[in-house]
Amino acid sequence: MANTIIIGMQWGDEGKGKLVDILSEQHDVIVRFNGGGNAGHTVVIKDKKYAFHLIPSGILSDNLNVMGNGVVINPYNFLEEIKNLQKKGIKVSPENLVVSDKCHLTLPYHIALDKAKGKDIGTTGMGIGPTYEDKIRRIGIRTCDLFDLKRLEEKVRENTKFYNHILEFHNAPSLSEDNILEELLGVTKRIIPFISDTEGLILKHNGSLLYEGAQGVLLDVDHGTYPFVTSSNPTIGGAYTGTGVFIEFDRKIGVLKAYTTRVGNGPFPTEQDNETGERLRKRGGEFGTTTGRPRRCGWIDLPAARYSIKLNGIKEICLTKFDVLDEENIIKVCIGYKNEGITSFPITQICEAIPIYTELPGWEQDTTTAGKQEDLPENAINYLKFIQNYFGVPITTVGVGQRRDQMITLDL
Ligand code: GDP
Ligand code: IMO
Ligand code: MG
Repeated sequence: MANTIIIGMQWGDEGKGKLVDILSEQHDVIVRFNGGGNAGHTVVIKDKKYAFHLIPSGILSDNLNVMGNGVVINPYNFLEEIKNLQKKGIKVSPENLVVSDKCHLTLPYHIALDKAKGKDIGTTGMGIGPTYEDKIRRIGIRTCDLFDLKRLEEKVRENTKFYNHILEFHNAPSLSEDNILEELLGVTKRIIPFISDTEGLILKHNGSLLYEGAQGVLLDVDHGTYPFVTSSNPTIGGAYTGTGVFIEFDRKIGVLKAYTTRVGNGPFPTEQDNETGERLRKRGGEFGTTTGRPRRCGWIDLPAARYSIKLNGIKEICLTKFDVLDEENIIKVCIGYKNEGITSFPITQICEAIPIYTELPGWEQDTTTAGKQEDLPENAINYLKFIQNYFGVPITTVGVGQRRDQMITLDL
């Protein structure tokens, strides 16, 4: 059976959660490998909406969900998210959710520092960057540390002291070791049953795996628009380091929004800080799933998407939010940049990139009720074919609405 990976091809929020939910029934194990509570993955089934931050979007299926070692976990938010899902009648227990014993924990001092110094980047303020910093600095506290309370106490006290120095440098209030420790000890027992050796579990499983990327390629700490990036690897390499296991992927699906959005700061060549951007934001409901911030909106950037295809070996594309373009008369598509010498996505000179657009005629028709390829208007098909030809990679599905059933299989 096919092992599948789903990767966001832009700056996140492409609609990965919806595709993971749809494909989860066809796989046995769903695996998150990067990011943490900064992710906001939405799944809409009939009139019910679910927003996943830490928990994999496959939790609505009957299958096993795994959070690999590359995921950073805020223990309080983890339990809160589980509680909220349970309230909605969703089964979440150690039977269907397993957390790696090597996940790094996000603690209050990470959040305090992120809030104090993450403004320039426009982070989600969830403490993600500082948690990954601790991992690299080799002082992080991991899920396995919850098993040894004496050692846990030593580490928490030591790290809080360290962070209080940094917080003081940023003129932010210091934090109490006792409070942090007490809070953590208060939740430890409830988290321990979820913790296990996830490498062993992935290696041993007999069925198929579905990997759920968080964020997007252009937010990758190595390959994105640095420094305006997150602190993990949403690219395919992150799937290996973030689980510790090599597996072959039969399907590598890139999720691409029919236009572009970005939350937070950083370069965005096709941004439309004007009426067009406003229109896309309104029609697309472009407000952050995690922070509620308005997302910056602009036209699709094909060289940027091609960069994502090349880096990750993407073999098929799921084009989302197609219906958001339903009322556009003319749709602009960035096919390159005007700057001399810039022939592909200019990851290091991106600030200066001036897009070259081609204009495609809109279809000006409702696609939200289309159930199959034949229901799509001619101009809609032409738009899809234009993008597919540009990449030379098939668009195999197109999203025409938020709901699980609003996804059309394509054979263009
Ligand atoms: P993710 O982070 O990649 O999972 O994406 P988000 O959930 O943050 O943002 C995508 C938003 O678009 C969510 O509100 C989805 O419900 C919605 N969405 C996903 N696919 C489609 C689609 O094809 N059409 C429309 N109109 N909305 C969609
Ligand atoms: P999903 O998985 C969109 C952005 C933040 C900020 C930058 C760094 O839902 O696609 P961080 O808190 O990670 O240190 O913030 O990255 N960012 C996202 N933008 N979707 C996300 O996740 C994001 N996760 C982080 O807005 O610009
Ligand atoms: Mg999101």
